[in-house]
Amino acid sequence: MFLGNAIATSEVAISDESKELFAIGSHVNLLNKNEEYHSAVKDLIENEITMQMKTYIQHGHTTCYQHCINVSYYSYVISKALHLDAISSARAGLLHDLFLYDWHTLQEKVPLFEMHGFTHPQKALNNAKLYFELNKKEEDIISKHMWPLTMKLPKYRESFIVIVVDKICCIAEFLREKKWFKLLFGLSYNQSDFMKK
Ligand SMILES: [Fe+2]
Ligand SMILES: [Fe+2]
Repeated sequence: MFLGNAIATSEVAISDESKELFAIGSHVNLLNKNEEYHSAVKDLIENEITMQMKTYIQHGHTTCYQHCINVSYYSYVISKALHLDAISSARAGLLHDLFLYDWHTLQEKVPLFEMHGFTHPQKALNNAKLYFELNKKEEDIISKHMWPLTMKLPKYRESFIVIVVDKICCIAEFLREKKWFKLLFGLSYNQSDFMKK
């Protein structure tokens, strides 16, 4: 029942090309081809593999796809402001949670280090490498985005940016469900990126 609804919603979302996509709290249309961000991720942002993340909820009512857009866009903005590799931050940010399953339904009677929080970065990296070409920095960003849970120290400054942005987006995505938070920040989202209950 739940899965059926998810797939139906996804098909609507994919076929309904509204051509508007916003990161949380931003009014920049990320599907605008004139945006620098768009040119950095144009082969990923509407790809049928990444669009599969629309069928899975990440936090609250935010889909995995929307979460990855949030992380990707703000990692790009911060990396660019710091004169770092903004393109790798944007691309790896978009793929960092490409694990492609509903982690809420997992029966996690497994050892601690085999739980989703520890294992999904490697699963996301495996999927990303299967479908897209990644550089070493992008691989590091994806595989270590849960650091310090994933114990190996990240190698690049861009990896630390994605780690921090991921945590902040996670908190914002939970808080956006609160009326006071919406009123305060006037958050905008594309409705098609939400899964109906
Ligand atoms: Fe993650
Ligand atoms: Fe994430």
